Amino acid sequence: MSQAAVQTQVAEPVLCINNIEVVYDEVIQVLRGVSIDVPKGQIVTLLGPNGAGKSTTLKAISGLLKSEDGEVTRGDIRFMGQRIDRQSPEAIVRDGIFQVMEGRRIVEDMTVIENLKLGAYTRSDNEVAADIEMVFEYFPRLKERTGLAGYLSGGEQQMLAIGRALMARPKMICLDEPSMGLSPLLVKEVFGIIEKINKEQGITMLLVEQNANYALKAADYGYIMESGKIVLDGTREQLLNNEDVKEFYLGGGNEERKSFKNLKSYKRRKRWL
Ligand SMILES: Nc1ncnc2c1ncn2[C@@H]1O[C@H](COP(=O)(O)OP(=O)(O)OP(=O)(O)O)[C@@H](O)[C@H]1O
Ligand SMILES: [Mg+2]
Repeated sequence: MSQAAVQTQVAEPVLCINNIEVVYDEVIQVLRGVSIDVPKGQIVTLLGPNGAGKSTTLKAISGLLKSEDGEVTRGDIRFMGQRIDRQSPEAIVRDGIFQVMEGRRIVEDMTVIENLKLGAYTRSDNEVAADIEMVFEYFPRLKERTGLAGYLSGGEQQMLAIGRALMARPKMICLDEPSMGLSPLLVKEVFGIIEKINKEQGITMLLVEQNANYALKAADYGYIMESGKIVLDGTREQLLNNEDVKEFYLGGGNEERKSFKNLKSYKRRKRWL
């Protein structure tokens, strides 16, 4: 393949978020003109502090806003060329987008295998058992856990949540803060598996994170969101080498997260939250 052909292939976006605004309860505007492109087969990360609108962006994609009285009031979202921002969550799963929600929403009083089967609910083929084995190859420790999922450790529950997404045979997985509540060692393990799944299965990923260090290392491209707007975007290298990103997002893990905006507005926002 020629260099030009390789470049066009890489640049082809499978998901296009075009200038969307999202409003909750008809009055609370949270997203203010957000545009994000996710190229096929890549890992794109969406970074930002608490309350920036990251989860709202994912819910807009997966159609889950409606259940929270939220609405895309401007702009559109296209998946493989088709508008999806007016579709039901079930239709979006069938189109090939699966969301792993914040806080690992597994079913605690079901077993690992029952949870995995839930992920396959939109499928009608007979390869579900084979795919459960495939999930166990990525997450061998899940195979040993035969009790109820509620007894799994936090890391194992996160693995199960990702495994369940795989069971839907998605074209794209949206992950909401997979590192939340995990030890640094487990975060490393989970991110390693996310990268492996992306490479081996060719599944496109949109990865929402507060942990910029890990997310940027795994991602091909990143966007930084603050107060409902994208304030910066770039390739992994551009963002890792950007002085502001280094200072505000990759800094030595100081408790008080700084912001691109001035400190005064940061304090105000913090009080408001
Ligand atoms: N259902 C809702 N109704 C009203 N406001 C909401 C709702 N969900 C979120 N918000 C508000 O929208 C803003 C963005 O929330 P969102 O959950 O998208 O942020 P986030 O970037 O995911 O934050 P975090 O890193 O804490 O998960 C916040 O101010 C939040 O209070
Ligand atoms: Mg969130």
